[in-house]
Amino acid sequence: MLAVIGGSGLVGLGQMKVTRREIARTPFGEPSGPLIFGQMNNAPVLFLARHGPGHVLAPHRVNYRANVWALRQAGATDILAVAAVGGIAENTGPGVIAVPDQIIDYTYGREHTFCDGSDRTVVHIDFTKPYSDELRDAIVAAAALASVSIVATGVYGATQGPRLETAAEITRMARDGATLVGMTGMPEAALARELSLRYAHLCVTSNWAAGCGNSVNAISHAAIDNTLDQSIGRVQEIIAALAGTFKVGS
Ligand code: HPA
Repeated sequence: MLAVIGGSGLVGLGQMKVTRREIARTPFGEPSGPLIFGQMNNAPVLFLARHGPGHVLAPHRVNYRANVWALRQAGATDILAVAAVGGIAENTGPGVIAVPDQIIDYTYGREHTFCDGSDRTVVHIDFTKPYSDELRDAIVAAAALASVSIVATGVYGATQGPRLETAAEITRMARDGATLVGMTGMPEAALARELSLRYAHLCVTSNWAAGCGNSVNAISHAAIDNTLDQSIGRVQEIIAALAGTFKVGS
């Protein structure tokens, strides 16, 4: 079953017929909000708002372990993680939708593994390719089906937040090879891998990252929200097309 984790700007799935909501409990506490079960394009779909109902949880306060655990517990096999990002590379300006293929993790102090209890053996997951190629290919195909143009590669740099970056930090990240910057991609992706779930990112650029493009001035929240509002319809279309490929028997 396909699960969608919605980030900033995506608090629900427009085309989803909701059948039930469930407050899940996990050994790691409660997820950000209720799990929303439903159907989309005749396929079962599960939705979770990463920042909780009302967007109350800052990126470093999200209980990533509970979220990923709860989705698997509910039967998810694949996680499509939607995330707002800042654009660093020239081809990632505001409004661009990207499916990155690599991650650099700059976060710290987050509960980033399921392997820290005495009752759990340590697993050194292979993370050479942090995203599932299979799911990425399915997203790229779904975007083509929905006639939505996307950038099909990229390097997602995960920062701690909640503040935005300095221009010098972004210059360093660009030197490292990051093309996108966001605050929630890690440890989410690694936790999904620990549980053998397919995971991929659908990133929506809401602004040029600090000092990039023509963003010599402060990055305004109004501009971020406005760009997300304008882009989220295209994201929903990709998700609906992707859900169709999860029909039982397809
Ligand atoms: N930096 C980090 N995270 C973000 C940004 C940004 O510029 N925009 C949206 N999420």
